[in-house]
Amino acid sequence: MTKKDFQFSVEIYDSGEELAPGDAELLTVARAATKQAYAPYSKFLVGSAAILENGVTVAGTNQENASFPVGICSERVLLSIVASQYPGLVVKTIAISYNNLLGESDHPISPCGICRQSLAEYEERVNHPIRVIMGGMKGHVYIIESASQLLPLSFSASDLG
Ligand code: THU
Repeated sequence: MTKKDFQFSVEIYDSGEELAPGDAELLTVARAATKQAYAPYSKFLVGSAAILENGVTVAGTNQENASFPVGICSERVLLSIVASQYPGLVVKTIAISYNNLLGESDHPISPCGICRQSLAEYEERVNHPIRVIMGGMKGHVYIIESASQLLPLSFSASDLG
């Protein structure tokens, strides 16, 4: 028997103001995008933004539905826009933010399990890691170097043979 350890680091910043300028800008876009979320059921407004290898920034939001399971998370809306409008392009970094009814959000959220799977496959498709910036409307901010760090031992296209 052998054991394998999985490890990754999270950079923790006190606030968005401590980020490098490009990262701060992307988080600002994600925060602003929360206003476009369609979340009348959960009232949990998620915004995400991606910076692509060509310098273009794309934003996405969660889109819910009266038939609840039909709703789509912000990150997968974002990836669908990128893959449809800029096929094959590397996503260098994404930022994720949110707001809700409890007042201004003040801590980071990380992508749900389904979104982790989608982000991991996008990394594999274009053979490039996606940095992830996570932050509320205020408060501390997390950065990880690759979305797939959030999904160790993941199922992937290569498993299909
Ligand atoms: N949601 C996202 O858009 N992204 C996440 O990372 C977590 C959850 C959405 C799904 C649903 O519309 C609402 O937030 C509450 O779960």
